[in-house]
Amino acid sequence: GDLDLGTYPYYMAKEIDEQPAVLRKIIQAYQNEQGQFELDKTIISSIENSDRIYIVACGTSYNAGWVGKQLLETIAHIPTEVHLASEFGYNMPILTKKPFFIFLSQSGETADSRQVLVKINAMGFPSLTLTNVAGSTLSREADFTLLLHAGPEIAVASTKAYTAQITVLTALSETIARENGVAGDGNMAHELGIVATGMERILSEKTAIEQLATDFLSTSRNAFYIGRGIDYYVVMEAALKLKEVSYVQTEGFAAGELKHGTIALIEENTPVIAIITNKATAGHTRGNVQEVSARGAHTLVIAMEGLEQQNDQIVLPEVHPLLTPLVSVVPTQLLAYYTSLHRGNDVDKPRNLAKSVTVE
Ligand code: G6P
Repeated sequence: GDLDLGTYPYYMAKEIDEQPAVLRKIIQAYQNEQGQFELDKTIISSIENSDRIYIVACGTSYNAGWVGKQLLETIAHIPTEVHLASEFGYNMPILTKKPFFIFLSQSGETADSRQVLVKINAMGFPSLTLTNVAGSTLSREADFTLLLHAGPEIAVASTKAYTAQITVLTALSETIARENGVAGDGNMAHELGIVATGMERILSEKTAIEQLATDFLSTSRNAFYIGRGIDYYVVMEAALKLKEVSYVQTEGFAAGELKHGTIALIEENTPVIAIITNKATAGHTRGNVQEVSARGAHTLVIAMEGLEQQNDQIVLPEVHPLLTPLVSVVPTQLLAYYTSLHRGNDVDKPRNLAKSVTVE
């Protein structure tokens, strides 16, 4: 059953492995007979009547929100902002005339997100909650809700909910694009099928990734992830994952910002992990890898097929350029998992953290 660990030592390992199946389940759940994504018309028309989307979330869901912004803007051409729930409620920006709110919450119970929902409900603005838990508070209190179909997520560190959120946001973006007569970006249901197969390939290379976790992260006290554009959004999540389960102090930042400050922290053997999936920025990020390497950093490169170079340690299968986070995040989840495991931490229950935080 869903809660059965089977042969896995920890839920985090099981949940990382479940991701290809979760993607296929979402494709199934949200596609029409023509194999295209199609969602509830009332949600789509409410978004069509708005002039801007505000995504509000915390933690890993917030990191998924940044990829969501890229999807909604590029595929559906809707201006989108991403906000931390704990900041937004008490420091609200000037809103547009017709905002539409999307709450991302695996549990549907996060108090920081709920306080924002209560406020915007009082202001009369429409909202949609994407959640893994049917009947959860945020799902009941928003106007609309879409399920993530990820199955119960038990490990405190979120993995399959992150990829499920990005997948459902892809389905949403494509449906809006079609209804609005925007060209969209190809058949995303089909592209996501390719992603699921790609994820399986990465998962079959687990032993090599476990070895990289040993080589790069077993004794270091700190680490850095760098990337640009959509890879920057993924490194924010990769850094959160590594720090929360392994307790290695990790920062994820835009590769171009290195020279504006963070490069001062690079010492002999500091691990720096780069994600490179975008052709337009690959050369610049490679330059950053060389800069830190020249200062003694221990560099690990995760690159997409077609952009890889000889010494890159992890090569990702090629997928649609907007869907690269779904494959690039997987090795970073595995690096976090194995680092935590080898350090003897309680992988599923990191110290001081809770799965669902119901206090502000
Ligand atoms: C907690 C969890 C995180 C999660 C965050 C948001 O802090 O430890 O893993 O990302 O809450 O949770 P939600 O259920 O709203 O997505």
